[in-house]
Amino acid sequence: MRVLIVTAHPQRDSFTQALTEQFIAGVASSGHEAEIADLYGEGFNPLVSIPEMNGWQKGLVLPEIHAEQERIRSCDGLVLSYPVWWSTPPAILTGWLQRVLTQGFAFMHVDGRTEGQLKLRAQMLVNIGSRQRQDIDLATLYLEPILGVLRYCGMDILPTQANWGVYPQADRAALQSYVEQAFENGKRFFA
Ligand SMILES: Cc1cc2nc3c(=O)[nH]c(=O)nc-3n(C[C@H](O)[C@H](O)[C@H](O)COP(=O)(O)O)c2cc1C
Repeated sequence: MRVLIVTAHPQRDSFTQALTEQFIAGVASSGHEAEIADLYGEGFNPLVSIPEMNGWQKGLVLPEIHAEQERIRSCDGLVLSYPVWWSTPPAILTGWLQRVLTQGFAFMHVDGRTEGQLKLRAQMLVNIGSRQRQDIDLATLYLEPILGVLRYCGMDILPTQANWGVYPQADRAALQSYVEQAFENGKRFFA
């Protein structure tokens, strides 16, 4: 089995990058394959153009988007690995979701209903500066919109690894436990 890990962070020494690498090591340790889609490293353009948007009505997809869709088609699983920036993923990742998960590929409308087309296992690895608080449900605020996208497209979603309280001076033991969890989640992904 094969999983595509889409990661969105500009810095090579970020915690997001470290977790992504551990998740991949976990996948490999279980005898499965992982492919990385490093959106910054690959220079993915997150901006939808007018001709592209007009093409959506006719089911037309640009070659660069077709290539991303083929990458997903060749996999059995999809993982999104990113930091929360102003309650959302980095713009490069939301642009990837908006451009790649097109109608006809990721979902279809059939008899007035929406049918998700991506029969993939999915998981999110998310780094968050804040700690989860009692007064406001940050997990719902930050994670539900993206989980909703994956669900809409028909994916079978595993529990999110939400790493709360990730910032430069964070407790080293907590960060280490997140790294170990990422390895374990990679190892169990196809179990
Ligand atoms: C532009 C920006 C916006 C951020 N917005 C939030 C936020 O809305 N909520 C939050 O809890 N943390 C926020 N953070 C903190 C990041 O989530 C945190 O620094 C990150 O997860 C650390 O992981 P990294 O080393 O991979 O960057 C923000 C950080 C940046 C740079």
